[in-house]
Amino acid sequence: MNIVDIINKKKNREELTTEEINYVIEEYMKDNIQDYQISSLLMAIVLNGMTDRETFDLTTSMLNSGDKLDLSDIDNVVDKHSTGGIGDKTTLIVGPLVASCGAKVAKMSGPGLGYTGGTIDKLESIPNFKSALKEEEFIKNIKEVGFSDIRPTKNMVPADKKIYALRDVTGTVESIPLIASSIMSKKIASGSKNLVIDVKVGKGALIKKIEDARTLAKLMIEIGKKNNMKVVCLLTNMDIPLGSNIGNSLEVEEAIDILKDHKPGSLTDLCIELSSHMVSLALKLTYDDAKRKVLENFYSGKAYKKFLEFVKKQGGEIDKLPESKYLCEVKSTKEGYLTNIDALKLGIASMKLGGGRISKDDKIDYSVGIEINKNINDYIKVNDILLTVHTNKEIKDIDFDAFTISKKTKDNYKLIYEIIN
Ligand code: URA
Repeated sequence: MNIVDIINKKKNREELTTEEINYVIEEYMKDNIQDYQISSLLMAIVLNGMTDRETFDLTTSMLNSGDKLDLSDIDNVVDKHSTGGIGDKTTLIVGPLVASCGAKVAKMSGPGLGYTGGTIDKLESIPNFKSALKEEEFIKNIKEVGFSDIRPTKNMVPADKKIYALRDVTGTVESIPLIASSIMSKKIASGSKNLVIDVKVGKGALIKKIEDARTLAKLMIEIGKKNNMKVVCLLTNMDIPLGSNIGNSLEVEEAIDILKDHKPGSLTDLCIELSSHMVSLALKLTYDDAKRKVLENFYSGKAYKKFLEFVKKQGGEIDKLPESKYLCEVKSTKEGYLTNIDALKLGIASMKLGGGRISKDDKIDYSVGIEINKNINDYIKVNDILLTVHTNKEIKDIDFDAFTISKKTKDNYKLIYEIIN
């Protein structure tokens, strides 16, 4: 077998065998296949796709490149994943909420790259929060608190780490089989048999079209089935940012506003939905019974208490969240209804403030970000404050012009497009 023949096969739209896929992953991990050869194969996959069988094999092969976590001695375990978006802090809310209902949430989260934030960066904005726990400690926390969230342990799906870094710089991220195998190999390795995936769709997401999101969801559900996992996918809107804050400590603050003060809005609605599906899977309840429990714990304050317990258990000091030196207001120059907030533009602006990484070794400024002061369909007058920038540096070269103001209201905003299971 050799890599050039395999690249040519995929270039000619032929199906790769299980042995060929295993050969590629194994030899790449031993450095017997070079980055430029894998890049070429990845591009052929982006252009010509993979059959479902090839995608299942690629998932298994990547999974077998590293260690797996065994959570079989914990009952009612559930995990969640989001394909990534702007202002997506759902894990910070959903984790404690689901744990407060009696399910065990075992979550490993990665850092963000580019304009999409990473949950682990948000958690690390809490002073002294420990995200690099040993496996034993992770398991102990899940058992005792019901929720733990850590960086992936060292040797989990190393093939994905290596391939994802390459995809990021070779224009090969946007491929349904590559995304499905990347996500599912990590989720299978993380050990939970129940999984809820928030597939983000829209301008601020990796997947722009609903048909692609549907295909991706169905594929991940099938991969889950083959690995004895129950997977539910929610296809949700990422045209506008989720909630009102973008930036690490600002997003933790918004999570607190929601858990403690029950701030209403689309972020809260999405968290209730995700949590209801997670509790339903983990505790084997009907969706309606699960939702009743979730709403009860959300409004009684039990979920907020669980959040504080989780942060404390991992060493975090929630009352010492960092704050930026300066606040700057961006005001409207127009009058009318707010009909769009460009998620991508604000994600990029927050990254440029220092809240995200342009390349993977960049250091993050946890205190900076953007607070959106208006909601879709609000009536805006000239000089109304549209957003507040939290910054430690000059902002004159950053583009915050992300608001569309129109004569008529927007009438077709949908938060959740579909639920697939
Ligand atoms: N998230 C992942 O983990 N992998 C992808 O390929 C895309 C999003």
